[in-house]
Amino acid sequence: MTSDILVDTARTLVGSGRGLLAMDESVPTCNRRFAEAGIPQTGEMRRRYRELLVTTPHLGACISGAILHDETIRQATGDGTPFLQVLAEAGIVPGIKVDTGAKPLALRDGETVTEGLDGLRARLQAYCAMGARFAKWRAVLAIGPHTPTACAIAVNAHALARYAALCQEAGLVPIVEPEVLMTGAHSLARCGEVTGELLSCVFEQIGRQGVQLDGLVLKANMVLPGLDQPPAGQVSAQEVADATLRCLLAIVPPALAGIVFLSGGQSAELASLRLNAINAQSTVPRARIPWTLGFSFARAIQQPALHLWQGFEANTVAAQQVLFHRAACNRAALHGAYDP
Ligand code: 13P
Repeated sequence: MTSDILVDTARTLVGSGRGLLAMDESVPTCNRRFAEAGIPQTGEMRRRYRELLVTTPHLGACISGAILHDETIRQATGDGTPFLQVLAEAGIVPGIKVDTGAKPLALRDGETVTEGLDGLRARLQAYCAMGARFAKWRAVLAIGPHTPTACAIAVNAHALARYAALCQEAGLVPIVEPEVLMTGAHSLARCGEVTGELLSCVFEQIGRQGVQLDGLVLKANMVLPGLDQPPAGQVSAQEVADATLRCLLAIVPPALAGIVFLSGGQSAELASLRLNAINAQSTVPRARIPWTLGFSFARAIQQPALHLWQGFEANTVAAQQVLFHRAACNRAALHGAYDP
């Protein structure tokens, strides 16, 4: 019975022509984004900002699921309506980030392993009882001359699979997010190689630990050249789409419920443009692609709205309109209809 529930939830998340809004920034990350935008970094401002997000009119037309943070899942609007109720009324499935962050990996200078497995079974049960229906765990790997090491890939893949198995045991769909960062001077091809190595290891562990593929969603990075590549090394949206799809097709099992992309620091417009190309402009024949290819963006949906809001009540409606616009752009990109 649990397995049917997982499949149904996963299909709602990725198969309903909508995408995910990641709004699961940890308190330090949310505060950092507030500081950059000149917004006071208080609990009340974070609550008001998250209220702006969840109460955006018609958001459920474009967003199937919202990834919350432990702080946010317990919060309510100014009039006392729990965010979970607001989301349910909008037809948006609530999810929860459950990792406790990327921590320095011992004896591996500069590399990280994502933590949060201790006590996870009990936390998942508690979130499920609160109403969460899916979860998220993010591993972070950076490309450098000698990184990521096989060790960093292996420990992060193992933890992702352990998390995924625990989620399914609790009746929550795991969103498995192994992220290769855009920072660095690497080429598109190198990003493809590293992403491929990482995904191979993740799916090997997922198979070994008995995780059900059709009750799991992969949250992947697009295959991109490093941000420090000179302009000549930057590439078209179609090249990104081809490299991304060829990498995924070589490794990701077809039985997966779906794949959603993170935005990773791309501008909102570029993320939509590339998602559109992945869905409609690749030279890879559409018939060869077995999964729904969607989005689970944080910055690429939120950033323009956050900068417009600036923490002022008077800007809320305009910020919500911008937020809805980005969500609608990405919904259009799911079927190649994004028009920048
Ligand atoms: P970005 O879309 O900003 O990369 O965030 C997605 C996310 O959930 C990171 O864990």
